[in-house]
Amino acid sequence: MQTKSSLLTYKTISNQEAGEYLAKAVDLVRGNLDRFTDRFPYSNSEGGFYQPGDNREWTTGFWTGEIWLAYEMTGEQVFREAGAVQVESFLDRIEKRIDTDNHDMGFLYTPSCVAAYRLTGSRTAKKAALLAADNLLERFQEKGQFFQAWGELGARDNYRLIIDCLLNMPLLFWASEVTGNMVYREKAIAHIRTAVGCVIRPDRSTYHTYFFDPDTGKPLKGVTHQGNRDGSAWSRGQAWGIYGCALSYRVEHDPRYMEMFRDVTDYFLEHLPSDLIPYWDFDFDDPSGEPRDSSSAAIAACGMLEMAKYMEGQEASYYTDMARRLVKALCSRCAVKSRKESNGLLLHGTYARDSAGNPCSNRGVDECNTWGDYFYMEALVRLVKDWEPYWY
Ligand code: GLY
Repeated sequence: MQTKSSLLTYKTISNQEAGEYLAKAVDLVRGNLDRFTDRFPYSNSEGGFYQPGDNREWTTGFWTGEIWLAYEMTGEQVFREAGAVQVESFLDRIEKRIDTDNHDMGFLYTPSCVAAYRLTGSRTAKKAALLAADNLLERFQEKGQFFQAWGELGARDNYRLIIDCLLNMPLLFWASEVTGNMVYREKAIAHIRTAVGCVIRPDRSTYHTYFFDPDTGKPLKGVTHQGNRDGSAWSRGQAWGIYGCALSYRVEHDPRYMEMFRDVTDYFLEHLPSDLIPYWDFDFDDPSGEPRDSSSAAIAACGMLEMAKYMEGQEASYYTDMARRLVKALCSRCAVKSRKESNGLLLHGTYARDSAGNPCSNRGVDECNTWGDYFYMEALVRLVKDWEPYWY
């Protein structure tokens, strides 16, 4: 547990240090291009090393996003060319609808194809990202006003949203901007209102998922999928809430989103352990011996750096400095320093952890994962340059 004054005792990362860690990350990404241009890293490493796989799951776009961040930082053609190859794969995937029966279109197509379109004007990327936005639109449930995360549309046992989906909404805002069709935007706004209205609990922690009645649309109950138990705060879910509120504020400038951001972020910060690397669920603190989820700190740092742009004076400095503290801790304790150690960027993530209170099996426990690598790199980029987010 932390207090505001204990948090202030931790060191922040300087711009120079962030630049050095970013240069290292770019080198590591460059070194992986041979293996991961025609193929993609699997969602998490095993024994510290990613194996190559097909473009499946919700996780491949983050690797492509790392390539685009590296391209932005260096201007090197090798990154642009590799990114373009991957964009072709994303077009093929959405045209053939391979593993696209879910809400994860924003995770997949924002750091890969929206990024490619913004940076290179690629028509292939634009086409792929718009098809992905259309695919996502099909999952909007009028009864309840939300995007159904998983499973057969309308099925009672899958009639729920999940907090992670806040990060899928920027794809829809982008789609409205490039097409002029406001339907994407309207549905995204409706989903965000529904989601933040039910997942944030009175104590400022968050539910991972929330069920609705498919007949009436009435909110029913919060249930975890990857957290320790229904009433606990899964640290990555809380981080998706932080970045999701910041990105929602970015679009709508609704002061309620800023207030919610403060709530979920302060809860996250107060529940950090002594080394600032979150346990996978905030049920755990030192010295639980439970695994960490470094990716949640990287996501939270990006959210804080985004929201600080819209805050004033001392409050903006507070959240910026807190993000710098998280990134400093990530660099010191989790950053991969050499290719011998790992072919990822950020150690000590947890994809899913088995517990009596969730249906998961252990997966990617104390490993790198593609989203942890990506958001770590995004946080470093945010610290060294005035970065225009891919997330709309
Ligand atoms: N969005 C899925 C996860 O965070 O594991």
